[in-house]
Amino acid sequence: MPGSKVVLVTGASSGIGRATADLLQARGHHVIGTSRREKPGEAPWTWARLDVTEDASVMACIAGVLAAHGRIDAVVNNAGLVMAGAVEDTSIEEARRSLETNVLGAMRVARAALPAMRERGSGTIVNMGSLAGRVGMPFQGIYSASKFALEGLTEALAQEVAAFGIDVALVAPGDTATPVVDNRVRTVASQDPASPYAAACVRVVAMYEKDERAGVPPAGVAAMVTDLVEGRRRGPRYVVGPVGQRVLVAARGVVPGGVFRWGMSRYFGLRR
Ligand SMILES: NC(=O)c1ccc[n+]([C@@H]2O[C@H](COP(=O)([O-])OP(=O)(O)OC[C@H]3O[C@@H](n4cnc5c(N)ncnc54)[C@H](OP(=O)(O)O)[C@@H]3O)[C@@H](O)[C@H]2O)c1
Repeated sequence: MPGSKVVLVTGASSGIGRATADLLQARGHHVIGTSRREKPGEAPWTWARLDVTEDASVMACIAGVLAAHGRIDAVVNNAGLVMAGAVEDTSIEEARRSLETNVLGAMRVARAALPAMRERGSGTIVNMGSLAGRVGMPFQGIYSASKFALEGLTEALAQEVAAFGIDVALVAPGDTATPVVDNRVRTVASQDPASPYAAACVRVVAMYEKDERAGVPPAGVAAMVTDLVEGRRRGPRYVVGPVGQRVLVAARGVVPGGVFRWGMSRYFGLRR
């Protein structure tokens, strides 16, 4: 099909990645969707095994795409891990796992795909950020840290590769109804009832889960990513999600920091 692109979508086994892979495939692109697991039975796209935390896995996956198709037009760095727990209740090992997936995973895949994109003088990389990458979320501190880091990495990379004809953008979803509610990882210490944060952590994470269950369908995020892959949008960053959350992100930029933090703490019931 004319205009058909070869697109790699990481974390395509569920949620936003699945919706994105399905939409891109339905629009006539050749989608390679990845997972650490077996191919989801009915998925209409090509499947590839990928663990973004492993160099060898990433190199093999990109080499496989290039061997099969001779090019890679777009990468959607969607694979992600949501970790819950107070910062004090997050071990360095657990933090490393989160950053390894959400930041270094995206960087690994981008680094592996970029040489072929530069050679062709074109390409698109879309990184999946989060509202939590604009606003520090209590009891998801390391997740917020990873998504803030991804914002910075995306902004820097976009400037570095523009001269090679490569577009880099970030999509930051707010609450989206996906299996993330069940896939959220809780740090070990945060599950100890003796933790001084135990009660507040359980309460706040329950608020997150409620909002996620009532979140927007992943189709909206998939449509935004598709616009970027197909070149209908070229902006550096898009927030997609419930109106209230988009307003919150906008407020972050204009409301004085102390006032913003006071409002957040009050909302989550975290003030003395
Ligand atoms: N849902 C929301 O409210 C929301 C809001 C903002 C941002 N996001 C972001 O959107 C992205 C997708 O989230 P989702 O809600 O769709 O969650 P999800 O349903 O839990 O999907 C996560 C995906 O990431 C993959 N993954 C996790 N660790 C991986 C690893 N080490 N290597 C390769 N793949 C890995 C999983 O694949 P396998 O387990 O099959 O390997 C799965 O396909 C994430 O980056 C998340 O941070 C979600």
